[in-house]
Amino acid sequence: MTRKLLSVLVLLTLCLAGFCQSRDTLRVLAIGNSFSQDAVNQYLHEIAEADGQTIIIGNLYIGGCTLERHYGNVLDGKEEYIYYKVGTDGELVAHKGADIYKGVFDEKWDVVTLQQASGYSGLIMSYEPYLGELVRYIRKNVPGARLMWHQTWAYAKNAVHGHFMHYGNSQKDMYESILRCSSYACGKYGMGIIPSGTAIQNARRSPLLDNLNRDGFHLGYKVGRYIAACTWYEALFGKSVVGNAFCPEGVRPHQKEIAQNAAHRAVAKPFGISKMWDFEPKEYMDESRVPEYTLPDPFTMADGTPVRNRSQWIGKRRPELLQLFAEEEYGTSPKGPAEGMHFEVLRTVDTLYGGRVKAREIVVYFASDCKNAIRMIEFLPADAQGPVPVFLGMNFKGNHSLTTEDWVSLPTKKQLSSYAVYDWTERGSRAVRNGKPGRWDVEKIISRGYGLVSYYYGDVTPDFDEGLDRGVHRYFKDSGYTWKAIGAWAWSLSRALDYLETDPDVDASKVAVFGHSRLGKSALWAGAQDERFAMVIANEAGCGGDALSMRHYGETIQLINYHFPHWFCDNFWKYNENEAALPFDQHELLALIAPRPLYVCSAQDDQHSDPKGQELAAQEAAKVYARFWGAKAASKVGYHTREGKHDVTPEDWDHFLDFADKYLK
Ligand code: GCU
Repeated sequence: MTRKLLSVLVLLTLCLAGFCQSRDTLRVLAIGNSFSQDAVNQYLHEIAEADGQTIIIGNLYIGGCTLERHYGNVLDGKEEYIYYKVGTDGELVAHKGADIYKGVFDEKWDVVTLQQASGYSGLIMSYEPYLGELVRYIRKNVPGARLMWHQTWAYAKNAVHGHFMHYGNSQKDMYESILRCSSYACGKYGMGIIPSGTAIQNARRSPLLDNLNRDGFHLGYKVGRYIAACTWYEALFGKSVVGNAFCPEGVRPHQKEIAQNAAHRAVAKPFGISKMWDFEPKEYMDESRVPEYTLPDPFTMADGTPVRNRSQWIGKRRPELLQLFAEEEYGTSPKGPAEGMHFEVLRTVDTLYGGRVKAREIVVYFASDCKNAIRMIEFLPADAQGPVPVFLGMNFKGNHSLTTEDWVSLPTKKQLSSYAVYDWTERGSRAVRNGKPGRWDVEKIISRGYGLVSYYYGDVTPDFDEGLDRGVHRYFKDSGYTWKAIGAWAWSLSRALDYLETDPDVDASKVAVFGHSRLGKSALWAGAQDERFAMVIANEAGCGGDALSMRHYGETIQLINYHFPHWFCDNFWKYNENEAALPFDQHELLALIAPRPLYVCSAQDDQHSDPKGQELAAQEAAKVYARFWGAKAASKVGYHTREGKHDVTPEDWDHFLDFADKYLK
């Protein structure tokens, strides 16, 4: 009797436990497309698990699927879905060739979500009658389930996507249209909201910037997807995701914190952007805040012994510093080209600028597979009597932006799709020819007897985190190099020089490598490593370029790492708000260029780049020139500051050309 009672009790407890467990498991079905795939396939399970929650996730996926198509599939049962399922163990299983019913009737769903295809998500006329029909269908067939609307996100500002045109290629317009449509869907059908779109928009207002997509529209596999999953978690479970212990691999602590808060604030306020200023590191432009600092001494070896003479500088100190900069700041990188690099001269003309300029387009294929290449434009004086000295520099917007001459090709579609998210200005498709005439004064450069060679920097590697997989890094995958974007841009300048060494019209012993801003940082690093460059010119290179980091003025190491996590190597993160620990400062990068002529400059309104820190770095570097090459050599370090903003102006070019006349003619 007691035994019987006991077993009944045990049974009852087991049943109850089972019941409770099944009650505690949240079953969620997304009827979506690649945007639901971004949101639920990867991290949602892990976030829930870290908070002691159990979830079963279904995702009815067809790439780019619209509400209309889903409803069509309700009517005719086409077997065109991949039905993804993440079970309680977190395993993701894909069932190909599923019909919509396979998902809808697979579990007793607690929540079913709907969404529109991203391109149409802000176009209200694309919603009905399909949304209404789908809502009716779900309510009838999954009674008791909570219906929720997945508010998708607007594209990255520089996305190249046919449907971006619906919103005038404007992220703001797209986001606002999505808001209107999502509030319509929720209001009309009493659905809950999963505000991924707002969460992403919040995060874009934080130091993460517009760096959350992997191709302009899908979310990045790291932070981007994590933000969406955090949003789903909080919207589904009604529990704050802030402080959740799960952090995807590759997501840094500050990114995790911002992601969670962006999601949390979006759930609290789904139909508008929340402020995220509290995550922005402070940027001081106040001389009284510059800390006391002691610059690392170029004249002392790492082991404390003094650097006595030129040969010790060249033989020991210089290599030691190069190594340190590679290990701690720019990342280690290959010394030469990848296997199979080759060049192709595509076109030549000698009638540009009224016959004064001869030009060529040359492709440098970085490897035999021809997948990654730069298309260079070369302008040369048509009347040159022999090889000429040239300026070599990357451009931000495509070769066509250098000139009014129609002969120069417009960017290809492939180039456009790698256009940098950080090129805040216009994309290449819309960038006008010679958009900023002062930046590259082709006629003036040519009239002074120089050539000008340039290429689009995004061809080397796209300028956003997760874009790097598509850049030249893929040729050196297993070689253990720690380079990121700046390392790659610098490396590409040496490859461009490899070509110039084969060009009979160019005096390759007289190539001045030039760059503005991030490309100035790259030019400096290229010039420091590759002694074939006869001269280096960095225009407003600033933090991580020619400004002293230890001044902690304007852009700091933490700021640059937060905003551009893909520029410097991982070790550089050690110096976030910890500049005093640096084993070098940027004056020593400049000194690595000695005894070759070096020109750096700044602009007074560009306090972000710290003009004073740039000038000081140049002065300190000049001491190395003077000590080891004689007092006169100090003048090989040129510097000017001008009034005005962050830019390259005709005035700057006058200085560069005068300086080049002294040393390259
Ligand atoms: C940002 C960044 C700078 C960089 C500049 C540019 O302002 O903070 O470090 O030099 O972009 O490349 O234009």
